Amino acid sequence: MVMSYNDPKKHEARVKMREFIQKYLFSIKKPLQTKVVCFPGAEVEGEEALEVKEVYDSLGIPRANVVGLEYDANKAQRLERANLGIRVVNALDAIFFEKTGEKFDVISLDYTGHQTNEAVHSLELIAGRQVLQPYGILCTNYAAKRESKALQLLMFHRWTRQDIIGDPNNKLDDIFGGNFYKDRVEKLRRII
Ligand SMILES: C[S@@+](CC[C@H](N)C(=O)[O-])C[C@H]1O[C@@H](n2cnc3c(N)ncnc32)[C@H](O)[C@@H]1O
Repeated sequence: MVMSYNDPKKHEARVKMREFIQKYLFSIKKPLQTKVVCFPGAEVEGEEALEVKEVYDSLGIPRANVVGLEYDANKAQRLERANLGIRVVNALDAIFFEKTGEKFDVISLDYTGHQTNEAVHSLELIAGRQVLQPYGILCTNYAAKRESKALQLLMFHRWTRQDIIGDPNNKLDDIFGGNFYKDRVEKLRRII
């Protein structure tokens, strides 16, 4: 089945994002100075980068200020062929965030699946390497269904910092293995 992001729910999400950026970013930043990194999407020929067209174009953000990340080589080529005037980077987001020296006012990570460890690692890199400008906007989108109880617990604890400061009631090490958090934090410290 061919998927398309040209659907009413995705459109509604893009409208909300546009309104949010307008309201909260443009009180301190001009569109011409705004830099964006996003997953533009290129599921269908002729429907490339709907996020760029419906959100950033209509806000007056120049396409030259937009970096489009796409890890799938075929879709990245489709984005290039569409000649949109954005900078297309054929890479996994974490690889980009691990290396980039740029800072962005809008970081939009519209994932196609669950909040995986890799997706969380990208957030750690963005925060740890300060890729988001002060007052910048981070927008994320994950599929939120079908998680196991263990995964729900993990996702909850991700935001409590208890993985870093230690939590005597934490059952996660039992579930995911003794050094689950320690290894993650050590890895991150080495990168940032
Ligand atoms: C949900 S679609 C983007 C839809 C687009 N934002 C829109 O509003 O129409 C996500 C796109 O990003 C790509 N992608 C997903 N995860 C990625 C990752 N971790 N790094 C780079 N590209 C990713 C997918 O191949 C897909 O083309």
